[in-house]
Amino acid sequence: MMGLSHCLLLFFIFFFKGCNTSTAHELSYCHDEESSALLQFKQTFTINASASGLEGAYPKVLSWKQAQGGNNTNCCTWDGVECDEHTGHVIGLDLRSSCLYGSIHSNSSLFRLVHLQRLNLADNHFNYSQIPTSIRNFPRLTHLDLSRSVFSGRVPSEVSQLLEFSSYKTCKISISEILVRDNQDLIGYLPEFNKSSPLITLDVHGTRFSGNLAFSIRNLGSLKQLDVAACNFSAGLVPSSLGNLRELTYLDISANQFGGPVPDSFANLTKLSVFRISTSLLTGPIPSWLGNFSELEYLDFGYNRLGGSIPASFSNLTNLQILYLQSNNLSGIVEFQKFQNLQNLKQLDLSNNPLEFFSESTAMNATMQFPYFLRYQKHLERLMLGGNKIHGQVPKWMWNMSTESLIQLDISYNFLSGQLPVFFPWVNQLHLTLASNMFHGPLPIPASSTLVYEAHTNKFTGKLSPVICNMSSLLALELSNNNLSGMIPQCFGNFSDPLKLLVLGNNSFHGTLPQTFTNKSNLRRFDVSFNQLQGQLPRSLANCLMLETLILSNNYFNDVFPSWMVTLPELKVLAMRHNAFQGLIGKPENNQQFPKLRILDISYNNFSGKFVAEYIFSEYAMRSVNQSTYLTVDVNFITYLSYASTFTITIKDGDRYYIRIYEAFAVIDISSNKFEGKVDESIGSLKGLWSLNFSNNLLSGRIPSSFGNSTNLEVLDLSNNKLSGEIPKQLAQLTFLAEFNVSHNNLTGPIPRGPQLNTFSINSYKGNPGLCGDPLPKICQSSKAPPQLPPSNTEENDSGGEFEWAFVLAGYGSGFVVGVVLADLAITRRREFFLEIVGTLIRLMERITSWKGFGR
Ligand SMILES: *[C@@H]1O[C@H](CO)[C@@H](O)[C@H](O)[C@H]1NC(C)=O
Ligand SMILES: *[C@@H]1O[C@H](CO)[C@@H](O)[C@H](O)[C@H]1NC(C)=O
Ligand SMILES: *[C@@H]1O[C@H](CO)[C@@H](O)[C@H](O)[C@H]1NC(C)=O
Ligand SMILES: *[C@@H]1O[C@H](CO)[C@@H](O)[C@H](O)[C@H]1NC(C)=O
Ligand SMILES: *[C@@H]1O[C@H](CO)[C@@H](O)[C@H](O)[C@H]1NC(C)=O
Ligand SMILES: *[C@@H]1O[C@H](CO)[C@@H](O)[C@H](O)[C@H]1NC(C)=O
Ligand SMILES: *[C@@H]1O[C@H](CO)[C@@H](O)[C@H](O)[C@H]1NC(C)=O
Ligand SMILES: *[C@@H]1O[C@H](CO)[C@@H](O)[C@H](O)[C@H]1NC(C)=O
Ligand SMILES: *[C@@H]1O[C@H](CO)[C@@H](O)[C@H](O)[C@H]1NC(C)=O
Ligand SMILES: *[C@@H]1O[C@H](CO)[C@@H](O)[C@H](O)[C@H]1NC(C)=O
Ligand SMILES: *[C@@H]1O[C@H](CO)[C@@H](O)[C@H](O)[C@H]1NC(C)=O
Ligand SMILES: *[C@@H]1O[C@H](CO)[C@@H](O)[C@H](O)[C@H]1NC(C)=O
Repeated sequence: MMGLSHCLLLFFIFFFKGCNTSTAHELSYCHDEESSALLQFKQTFTINASASGLEGAYPKVLSWKQAQGGNNTNCCTWDGVECDEHTGHVIGLDLRSSCLYGSIHSNSSLFRLVHLQRLNLADNHFNYSQIPTSIRNFPRLTHLDLSRSVFSGRVPSEVSQLLEFSSYKTCKISISEILVRDNQDLIGYLPEFNKSSPLITLDVHGTRFSGNLAFSIRNLGSLKQLDVAACNFSAGLVPSSLGNLRELTYLDISANQFGGPVPDSFANLTKLSVFRISTSLLTGPIPSWLGNFSELEYLDFGYNRLGGSIPASFSNLTNLQILYLQSNNLSGIVEFQKFQNLQNLKQLDLSNNPLEFFSESTAMNATMQFPYFLRYQKHLERLMLGGNKIHGQVPKWMWNMSTESLIQLDISYNFLSGQLPVFFPWVNQLHLTLASNMFHGPLPIPASSTLVYEAHTNKFTGKLSPVICNMSSLLALELSNNNLSGMIPQCFGNFSDPLKLLVLGNNSFHGTLPQTFTNKSNLRRFDVSFNQLQGQLPRSLANCLMLETLILSNNYFNDVFPSWMVTLPELKVLAMRHNAFQGLIGKPENNQQFPKLRILDISYNNFSGKFVAEYIFSEYAMRSVNQSTYLTVDVNFITYLSYASTFTITIKDGDRYYIRIYEAFAVIDISSNKFEGKVDESIGSLKGLWSLNFSNNLLSGRIPSSFGNSTNLEVLDLSNNKLSGEIPKQLAQLTFLAEFNVSHNNLTGPIPRGPQLNTFSINSYKGNPGLCGDPLPKICQSSKAPPQLPPSNTEENDSGGEFEWAFVLAGYGSGFVVGVVLADLAITRRREFFLEIVGTLIRLMERITSWKGFGR
């Protein structure tokens, strides 16, 4: 949830009055040359709503109008313009979030406003302009905010001239606030601050400034707010000289690859109220002197390698509202006994630490190890305890904790057990995850405001309460891997229009699917695999026009092939293995095929007749799949909305886990049916094909030589059919082939030689009395030497080598290839869901949480 806190802290602008100036809009009258400069400035931009991304954006300059007829126009009354009361000069220009789109050059008329003291152009789109050197025309500038406005390049040295004092009226002034955050194309070094400067706020968060941070800011002893997070400052130890910035109240140096221990010099930064070094390489213990930071409201050391336990001195941090220590190596017994002093906590994230909590409460000593100090929390909004080692039951007092405020609760991936109350008490809940624990009894129902509810991988039993139908805001519901029974409630077809993810797999649901899917449905992924469902598929599923993945496998569905689903424009995965589907798969009406289907698993059913790929797959879906594109997904995203219960695929890269996915796969598994007749030749033209399993059918005739054209094929299983003739020598062209099985057919002749085919074991060929040649013991007659392929120019292709999947399977036996691919696709989609869902959560939480950031 890195992004969340960034968003919460999105730049905050505060103006305060400079010395000896007073302002008023109505009294003063603006100078002609200044109003024409402003109007010229306005002319250089187009108004473009997408240029401003923050809430409340509107085009302020639309109210700026030329003088007309006898009417005068007073620019001091224009939106965003501020004039000096006495002189009438424009001294403030606040055009943040004004939908301005266009370039800004040094010759811009803006720089004729030489009396400007405050300039705010944040949240517009300046089309990768450089920060203009004419900025030096503003010697009286005290506040400059160019955040989030698409500037690029290096910062001109003229900016540092702003740091020199200039005399204005009776006082010396110099810039005190520079914000250029979230301009990710700003590069190079920070401007030189040679002289000791009175700069108070420097915010370059989310730029690409590099170099030595300690050196760059060595003269900024007055800084109160410093945010250099997510920049590109040179990796190394956390710069201990930052400890000299005694006035700091806000310090964020996250995500710059700073490492080592938190320097002891920081012990002097006792005025800090916001202190963040997340997503770095911090090691060692959390310093106990932090307990002396009595102003501390927000501490974030998440995503580091800190060890040890949380210091007892934290019990003195009575102003603490946000504490993020997630994803570290914190362990041992946490001394929380005095932590009931921390009664202002709003957000607590201790997830993914091997923490072991203990309770002070001797009465419950034997059974309860839940962090006891939480009992006193009345204002918690987010409580994240997932991925720890919390054992025992959730204590009863939890059901009275922060009942009004809590919106996000994560206690997933622990060892919690026991029964939960039928209704959760948190009336404003948005996100609840109980996943991967040992809870039993009936499934609890959270508030109807809940957007995401994850209860998968527990031991919940019994029927779903009909009250679940009240959860009309749900985006994602995951109940898989429990022992829930009864019918799937009828309302599940239409109880929540926003619902995107409905995962009910591996339970004991019986009966038919709900019949009530409506065309308001946003369902993308629907998974009811591994239940005892039966009957026909509801034809109303054809209303779910967003459906991408439909997993019906391992039930007792009894129906014909759902050709009627060809009207689902987004369907990519259709898995219905291990059911009682039967009948022919005929030519579709109007010759319509599934427009985007790429993965079809209809194995272990009773289909019969011919299998004609053209009846199902559109050429569009199968054509020119770019196999070299990978999607790399950070596992942190996955564990958040985890579906790892069924399949986990990880690739270790250093010490982070990534999931690497081909952007496109095509898989056909029709094994273990009663398909007969010749093998469909047209399959060879399906370029994206990665895995093909036709085994255990009644297919006859020859293996089509066109299979040699499916050049991306890695898995080909034709075993246990009635195929005859020779193995086409074209198959030797399949250089990626990793699994190959033609055993138990009636094939004859020599096994073609080539780079791949001879590397498979005897098991791939056995049960074909007429086959001969390596690796079989039977030697071919010399008159009929095995056909030797001309040395094919197998160009270096890295995708074969990069295919290093380590997969863990929850014991589903055969069919792992499809399993892996399905899980994979699911994960790709999940990431999108995740981002969407988190986006929604963030927006909602921003409204709820009172945290504001700088200058609160
Ligand atoms: C609006 O701005 C976006 C960039 O934010 C740009 O891609 C788009 O072309 C602009 N539209 C117009 C009409 O200028
Ligand atoms: C002058 O301003 C008034 C009020 O804003 C408006 O009604 C009038 O049309 C304007 N006159 C001209 C000549 O634009
Ligand atoms: C943005 O910059 C590009 C490249 O410099 C230029 O072609 C385009 O016209 C600019 N757009 C605007 C609206 O200034
Ligand atoms: C300002 O400078 C830019 C680029 O240097 C140029 O394209 C533009 O014509 C100039 N505008 C004026 C009004 O001189
Ligand atoms: C800062 O000092 C460096 C060398 O010490 C010099 O090159 C540079 O011009 C100075 N910058 C300013 C703004 O004075
Ligand atoms: C980060 O800084 C280094 C030099 O310190 C530079 O080589 C690299 O390109 C920078 N990376 C980015 C993303 O700007
Ligand atoms: C804190 O500041 C004092 C006074 O400047 C200094 O003596 C002390 O060493 C500093 N503490 C740390 C831990 O740097
Ligand atoms: C906290 O501050 C007090 C007084 O300034 C000091 O004596 C004590 O050592 C500090 N505690 C820690 C843990 O640094
Ligand atoms: C909390 O602060 C008080 C007074 O400042 C101090 O006596 C006490 O030792 C501190 N507690 C811890 C656990 O550091
Ligand atoms: C509480 O539990 C701990 C360890 O589980 C044990 O050592 C201690 O005696 C228990 N205390 C009481 C009062 O039961
Ligand atoms: C295989 O592809 C080649 C070249 O694209 C084409 O000429 C040939 O007809 C194809 N063979 C089959 C059997 O489809
Ligand atoms: C195998 O093929 C041969 C001809 O190649 C045929 O005579 C024989 O009957 C076939 N066997 C089976 C079991 O189909």
